Amino acid sequence: MMRDFISIADISKEDIVQILDQALRYEESGIPYGVIEGNVVASLFFEPSTRTRLSFDSAIKRLGGAVIGFSGTEGTSMSKGETLEDTIKIIDGYSDCIVMRHPEIGSARVAADIAEHPLINAGDGANEHPTQTLLDLYAIRKTQGTLDGLRVAFVGDLKHGRVPHSLAVALTHFPTTTQVWVAPETLRMPDDVRAAVTGAGVTVEETTDVQDAINTVDILMMTRVQAERFADPAEYERVKDVYVLRSEQFSQAKKNMCILHPLPRRYELPRSIDALPQAYYFYQAHNGVVVRAAIVQYVLGKI
Ligand code: NCD
Repeated sequence: MMRDFISIADISKEDIVQILDQALRYEESGIPYGVIEGNVVASLFFEPSTRTRLSFDSAIKRLGGAVIGFSGTEGTSMSKGETLEDTIKIIDGYSDCIVMRHPEIGSARVAADIAEHPLINAGDGANEHPTQTLLDLYAIRKTQGTLDGLRVAFVGDLKHGRVPHSLAVALTHFPTTTQVWVAPETLRMPDDVRAAVTGAGVTVEETTDVQDAINTVDILMMTRVQAERFADPAEYERVKDVYVLRSEQFSQAKKNMCILHPLPRRYELPRSIDALPQAYYFYQAHNGVVVRAAIVQYVLGKI
């Protein structure tokens, strides 16, 4: 069955596990060339991206598919004022699947309603980033051996961060996992995510103290303060370095604790942290290719 992948809430626990298992097989034995041979995937990035766009490109090509698309609207008819709706209508006719990142909240759903082929949300503004979540779950399961019974901290810009939004909701499938939300007053988790998580019966602890979290959690998901989402630059300046990790803070951390970060990093994750045994973010990003290969196969109905 072909399907869209717009919100992490669209996909069942069974499907999440199926995608993670497929990605693991790919990591262990390679991505089999030819699974999507003859398919054309459109990669439409209206917002900057390094990892998401290129790991999708790599995954699609390794599966034997072809990629068309753009990165930035300069050079497309959108620079002449063409709407998102018309653009999607046309590109849907050129491709078998669309991967789209766009700055507006809800844009992925709008595009998916227009496109007849499956559409994958690669980030819609400050809303969601569901494919990143599968990478994050992959990293958590790989380092901890389970997704149940953990303590997972989310640190930084929980208000504008689409990465923490999608991961917090995904973890409701694993209600014995406690979530620790670490943010300053002005960057706390939005109400819709809060309602979805607490409504699922998950225990949430909220604090402004990152040290407390470091000492007790299994996973520390650091996030960048999302400069591009602030209407007032002065407000960004006030909070941009609210949490900056230091190696000394990890002396009491669990041995198997793991620091994740979707990247790119700014102030919150200095290079000195890379030397810690808990630093896992580069491996997390490398796993993007196998996880996204499994996602493309899933939406095209081939797993
Ligand atoms: C994230 C994003 O685009 O939301 N990056 C990514 O996809 N790896 C995180 C961020 O930009 O802070």
